[in-house]
Amino acid sequence: MSVYSILPLPSGPTPSDTIIHRYKSLRLLALQTDPRNFGSTYEQELMRTPEVWRGRIVSRSPWPDRENITFVAALPSAESGGTNGGQMVDILEDETREWVGMVGVLAPNHEGVDKNAILSFLERDKEMMDIKEKLHLVVCTTVHPDHRGRGVGKRLMEYAVKWIEDRCKALGEEGVAVLAVRMTNTNAIGLYESVGFKFWGTEKDSTVGSGEMAYRWMYRHVV
Ligand SMILES: CC(C)(COP(=O)(O)OP(=O)(O)OC[C@H]1O[C@@H](n2cnc3c(N)ncnc32)[C@H](O)[C@@H]1OP(=O)(O)O)[C@@H](O)C(=O)NCCC(=O)NCCS
Repeated sequence: MSVYSILPLPSGPTPSDTIIHRYKSLRLLALQTDPRNFGSTYEQELMRTPEVWRGRIVSRSPWPDRENITFVAALPSAESGGTNGGQMVDILEDETREWVGMVGVLAPNHEGVDKNAILSFLERDKEMMDIKEKLHLVVCTTVHPDHRGRGVGKRLMEYAVKWIEDRCKALGEEGVAVLAVRMTNTNAIGLYESVGFKFWGTEKDSTVGSGEMAYRWMYRHVV
């Protein structure tokens, strides 16, 4: 059995400062260790106000219309060695339980999802246009370098996809997960393919940029 617990961050309006700090630290670490793999930079993110970090965690709408989720992978407590027991928030705030990975999902009703921007270079793809209002954007996938290759990324992705599935079924809607990945990021492409994602359309239509920084969109029909 995996030692890693996969936990959702609380969606309420007041996540604790500890949770916000831990979320921010893991995101900044990812941008430092793998700067080429993400759209934003460490320097940009470092300038974000506490309200911006808080806004990435909270949801304005309750389930099932909730517009975002972040899952984190946490290690057992170094002190107790245990993985079970305790309230979710207590576990998330327990700094003896290191966070070693995360993934986020922005649902179609999230104001940060600029569907027109996503679609602007895929407009020749009719299938994509038809499911414009169903796009769930998977973001910020990362696993701490010391914990890679142990299935953490795959479990995080499985939780993200299941969340999309449950949300869409509860709303009685179709759902599609999409994400952007650098063409050079073979580890991440392997991860996404291992959980059923495919590249969207032709390379010409769905590639943005060129050289090392070129990225492509991947998708998976969930419901
Ligand atoms: C991409 C990343 C999240 C993968 O996390 P991980 O926990 O190491 O992945 P897993 O151990 O769950 O591997 C799942 C699958 O991904 C693929 N994969 C992951 N790492 C790989 C590697 N080094 N080489 C080849 N395939 C790899 C494999 O298909 C693997 O399945 P398998 O073990 O059954 O062969 C991790 O490498 C990472 O954080 N990279 C830096 C940040 C990043 O690039 N994020 C993605 C932004 S789009």
